[in-house]
Amino acid sequence: MSTLITNIGELVTNAPDGGRRGFAATADAALVIDDGRIAWRGTAARAPAADDRVDAAGRAVLPGFVDSHAHLVFAGERGAEFAARMAGLPYSAGGIASTVAATRAASDEELLANLRRLAAEMLGQGITTFECKSGYGLTVADEARSVTLAAQVTPEVTYLGAHVVPREFSDDPAGYVDLVCGPMLDACAPHARWVDVFCERGAFDADQAMAILTAGRSAGLRPRVHANQLGHGPGVQVAVEAGAASADHCTYLSGADVAALAGSGTVATLLPGVEFSTRQPYPDARRLLEAGVSVAIATDCNPGSCFTSSMAFCVALAVREMRMTTQEALWSATAGGALALGRDDVGHLGTGARADLVMLNAPSHSYLAYRPGVPQVAAVWQGGSLAAGRPLESRA
Ligand code: NIG
Ligand code: FE
Repeated sequence: MSTLITNIGELVTNAPDGGRRGFAATADAALVIDDGRIAWRGTAARAPAADDRVDAAGRAVLPGFVDSHAHLVFAGERGAEFAARMAGLPYSAGGIASTVAATRAASDEELLANLRRLAAEMLGQGITTFECKSGYGLTVADEARSVTLAAQVTPEVTYLGAHVVPREFSDDPAGYVDLVCGPMLDACAPHARWVDVFCERGAFDADQAMAILTAGRSAGLRPRVHANQLGHGPGVQVAVEAGAASADHCTYLSGADVAALAGSGTVATLLPGVEFSTRQPYPDARRLLEAGVSVAIATDCNPGSCFTSSMAFCVALAVREMRMTTQEALWSATAGGALALGRDDVGHLGTGARADLVMLNAPSHSYLAYRPGVPQVAAVWQGGSLAAGRPLESRA
């Protein structure tokens, strides 16, 4: 069963010539979905016939957002911590402990229900691929159930046993690193694709991080790193040295960090919702882009540092606060996220790509930043099927 979507005011494809570098869009466009994939795309005047026809009435169609950084397996919430922060307290990694306690106390059913609710919330806002980390269990059993539950909602599961050293190991951090690299990794690796470590003062140092990433790699997992979030430090260098797919946060970067990223295959994943929610300075996206670094934008949806599931909000922040163009920000939230996850089937709408797409109730991708905070997702297709919204609502 094929579907033609026509009269698209702006079709963002990100794939002008079969490549994936850079924003690309066509006006007055159409595309054909067949068997869950993009079978054809071009100008509406040349569109072939299909079994079904959707009239976009001038709306924009974009690749589904690819959220390459989220922590969705948790229980409880930290609204009071956020309010205290807005009243002047600083963010610290210490808050993670309260979510760890709530997560350990929760049943599998509660965790899965929370996870499914957040996944549905993301889908309704156009996120068609998302990564999901463990990291609020921090025992072998709780980390293993976190990755197992995450694997029920996404193939992009990340083992983050190295989120922080849990209280029961505060006198023996080396013992905790041994656990993370040993029995915990053995229990989690079969259910995960990625290994992550929070390389930061107060969490894990460079040697510990490298040991954890190396152990993860030996167990078949690819590295990614929480790097340079709270201050300058070795996280980015560790990520590059470990061949990580992505160094995430990158809030505080030295010239050497930028140069290391520029000469590597490691994507800098920026999480502007975190800076918004913690009142930290925004990372310097222009400096990274000008150095030739590949930049992704992700939500970092988690109950502590940033509880948003809105990629549109993150795009608006990236444009307004990080001085990215609307095109750069859109690319980073789609193809950039795909690059950070090593995926070439999503993040673009080239022929053969997965038919994951978002129809906006607006004529251009720029409206994501132009009309911040306004729900503008009219419909979402995932693997060629309508997964959220309705394409035929009247235009705003
Ligand atoms: O990406 N930095 C570490 N982890 C999360 C925050 C977790 C929390 O505060 O619960 C982050 O910001
Ligand atoms: Fe995170």
